[in-house]
Amino acid sequence: MIKLENITKIYSNNNEQKALDDVSLQINDGEFVAIMGESGSGKSTLINIIGMMDKETAGTYLLDDVNISELNLSQREKKRRENISFIFQQFALVKRYTIYENVELPLIAKGVPSKKRKVKIMEALKALGIEDIANKYAMNTSGGQQQRAAIARAIVSDSKYILADEPTGALDSNNGEEVMKLLEDLNKSGKTVIMVTHNENLAKKAGRIINISDGKLRF
Ligand SMILES: Nc1ncnc2c1ncn2[C@@H]1O[C@H](COP(=O)(O)OP(=O)(O)OP(=O)(O)O)[C@@H](O)[C@H]1O
Ligand SMILES: [Mg+2]
Repeated sequence: MIKLENITKIYSNNNEQKALDDVSLQINDGEFVAIMGESGSGKSTLINIIGMMDKETAGTYLLDDVNISELNLSQREKKRRENISFIFQQFALVKRYTIYENVELPLIAKGVPSKKRKVKIMEALKALGIEDIANKYAMNTSGGQQQRAAIARAIVSDSKYILADEPTGALDSNNGEEVMKLLEDLNKSGKTVIMVTHNENLAKKAGRIINISDGKLRF
């Protein structure tokens, strides 16, 4: 379970920017939540804090009853590795690695032996219909293929929480719907899925929509 209590995030570079303003939110295990809001409203900031990619300025973040706000950087990184899979807006594949090697990364991090890795990776690539490009460098594949590889990576890492920041943003509507279906399947298999999207039709397929504007949740 994810529990945010009065989370505020202020970016202070040149001038101060309050990206999240006193956000309280609970997401239960097994939910599929879509986060919607205008550009600059705080969606990525919210999902980045949930994914421990960024830290709140004030407030408390509890993940499965562990107080994340109190952890130091390396403890947070460990928690993230154990619990969270991220599917980024910009795919975030390592471009000079092959598709196979990209999907392999979380398994190496978890210490899964090579033979077992191979079985899992090929299974995921097959499920996503990209097994034929396993040995292609990521930079030589299409946006849709990269997006599928990013989902394959989330599948093999077998994390409890799948976070996706506009996973369909760079895709045409067919590929977008397909990616949505894959996320729905992951959710049905028991994962908690949190997805940022601008697409209302896709958001409607989630179990719950959270609207955010100016860093505040709107109900
Ligand atoms: N690293 C940063 N430094 C300073 N300000 C930032 C930083 N990241 C985001 N912001 C600001 O915080 C606010 C929220 O940004 P955020 O990226 O969360 O928006 P978003 O809802 O994801 O927008 P988009 O739909 O365009 O991706 C914006 O005003 C943005 O300019
Ligand atoms: Mg964003």
